[in-house]
Amino acid sequence: MKPQVLVCRRIFPETLERLREHFAVEANDADVVWSRDELIARLQGKSGAFLTGTQPIDATLLDACPDLRAVCSMAVGYNNIDVPACTARGVLVSNAPDVLTETTADFGFALMMATARRIAESEHFLRRGEWTKWSVDLFAGADVHGATLGILGMGRIGRAIARRGARGFAMPVVYHNRSRLDPAVEAELGARWLTKEELLATADHLVIVVPYSAESHHLVGEAELKRMKPTATLTNIARGGIVDDRALAAALRAGTIAAAGLDVFEGEPAVHPDLLTVANVVLTPHIASASLPTRRAMAELAADNLIAALDTRPGAALPPTALNPEVLGRRRL
Ligand code: GLV
Repeated sequence: MKPQVLVCRRIFPETLERLREHFAVEANDADVVWSRDELIARLQGKSGAFLTGTQPIDATLLDACPDLRAVCSMAVGYNNIDVPACTARGVLVSNAPDVLTETTADFGFALMMATARRIAESEHFLRRGEWTKWSVDLFAGADVHGATLGILGMGRIGRAIARRGARGFAMPVVYHNRSRLDPAVEAELGARWLTKEELLATADHLVIVVPYSAESHHLVGEAELKRMKPTATLTNIARGGIVDDRALAAALRAGTIAAAGLDVFEGEPAVHPDLLTVANVVLTPHIASASLPTRRAMAELAADNLIAALDTRPGAALPPTALNPEVLGRRRL
């Protein structure tokens, strides 16, 4: 009998078909966002779960779903999954790194440019029928080329954004990361490490790409925004909760910084009401990785992981991007 797996949201038909070759699949073609209780009920008897990045997997849920052996997410961020709790229970966890790096960096750069050049704000003005004449400073924004690009969080996506800025737009690049990059990588990127405080004060355009954790909660709040230049922009493509959205809306209204671009929000899909009434912010619905080829690649990678994770044959290949592959060693002994 094939193992049973739960696919938590609607995914591409070709990925579902592939999963069906290996598993008895319960899919979610209606794309319903299941409550925690419903998720637990549907996970009964399931060996695996295909996650899309938002389903919270914690110790209580794992204890309520004793058959679960693998949770494989098509997102790169895995702050929704308690990995140590999974490891303690022998549940394999995987995420989907690499396949979305360049697409997400493209979007981060686009959002930063839209923010600096006031593209959304001016488009709304045009649609409202308010464009009646040329003016010398009509939606005059900040330059991107040659400006200092600040990157908070220099992982794979941060580095891909740095390359775009340094090579394509002649931007001096400064960054802050807990661990400094190897000097050879710094030289290749033309990037200079700064303390977080220095980064905030130096960047003309700050792009946030750190993973969410208890440590990065409200990493940028009122005090940090005050350190930034009044002409600076802030772009967040990482996770909601890293920026204090209420403080950001107040800073945008007060002119503490010039503008912001946000793809992620605290408590999304809800958006802080203050952000909706501020003009100098570009808001997008968490779509940084959303090119069709990349979303397909992310889904396929999650499927690869799930198929390998539930393959119990001795010597079976490891899931390609497991976060705790040691649990398989234990299981396959
Ligand atoms: C998207 O936010 C992801 O983590 O893949």
